[in-house]
Amino acid sequence: MNVHAPALAKAHSFDEQTLAFAADVIDDLSQHPKRLSPKYFYDAAGSELFEQITRLPEYYPTRTELGILRDRGCAISAFVPDGSALVEFGAGATTKVRLLLNECAVGAYVPVDISGDFLQAQADALRQDFPTLDVHPVTADFTAPFALPEAVSAMPKIGFFPGSTLGNFEPHEACAFLRSARNILGQGAQMVIGVDLEKDERVLYAAYNDKAGVTARFNLNVLQRINRELGGNFDLSAFIHRAIYNRDRHRIEMHLISRKAQTVRVLGRSFAFRAGESIHTENSYKYSLERFTALARGAGWTPRHCWTDAAAMFSVHALEASD
Ligand code: AVI
Repeated sequence: MNVHAPALAKAHSFDEQTLAFAADVIDDLSQHPKRLSPKYFYDAAGSELFEQITRLPEYYPTRTELGILRDRGCAISAFVPDGSALVEFGAGATTKVRLLLNECAVGAYVPVDISGDFLQAQADALRQDFPTLDVHPVTADFTAPFALPEAVSAMPKIGFFPGSTLGNFEPHEACAFLRSARNILGQGAQMVIGVDLEKDERVLYAAYNDKAGVTARFNLNVLQRINRELGGNFDLSAFIHRAIYNRDRHRIEMHLISRKAQTVRVLGRSFAFRAGESIHTENSYKYSLERFTALARGAGWTPRHCWTDAAAMFSVHALEASD
């Protein structure tokens, strides 16, 4: 447990999730340099802003991955044994999984997400459109070990992790996630995973600094969330969004930069900012095919096939659990 959690639990009647949020925020804003975890972007407003990002002309990953899943669905389905349980790590919009469900003779669908409400809504929508599909939602943090439903225990397993969410993990976390997914899915499992690729820095820069300012609003929304849920007093107009490409570390970094010297209060604590000081809010790692396949091998998976779009912007990989 975070060191701040017991004191916060004593002082506030937070539910478990808000308590974890509060403890992480206090801890992360106390670091040098300051940081906030990208997992806190996704409240209702942040999730809606992310959906808007996926439709921006500059933000190529979503539509490029969808194009690969659409064009290569038949080839991808060859890696999915009939009657498999399709386990999706994280429950986003159902657009991508629908493409797989249309192509593959899947026996059951197991979406796994921390947000139970969202998961139920997603499961209900899929049950309507795929009436013969067994849907078994699991409310869990998919980055930690969890048990699959008993009903799918005898089925072959196929993991699905689209969207290059892996890119938001630090490399050691990405390795730990792949290892954990391998353990959860078990021997003989397959995995289909979307991974964003290194490319011209100007394309990357534009994707995270869109002209309409949606990514800026998405980034700033985490401060709004701290104000609303934790009674913080961040002045959003006193911070600006900045996204840069860190070439040495192969990652886009998102920051919120303080426009002036200021002090912000959250949960009775003061956090002093210098003019120009950053809160580092997200990394989005971009992989070469070689670096991703090496990562997968190191985490207990054998790369079986990889598909990219014609411009090699994005990749979808079929992996098989190594013995
Ligand atoms: C969810 N994730 C893969 C997105 C990305 O591209 O790293 C989050 C995002 N951040 C800014 N724009 C989109």
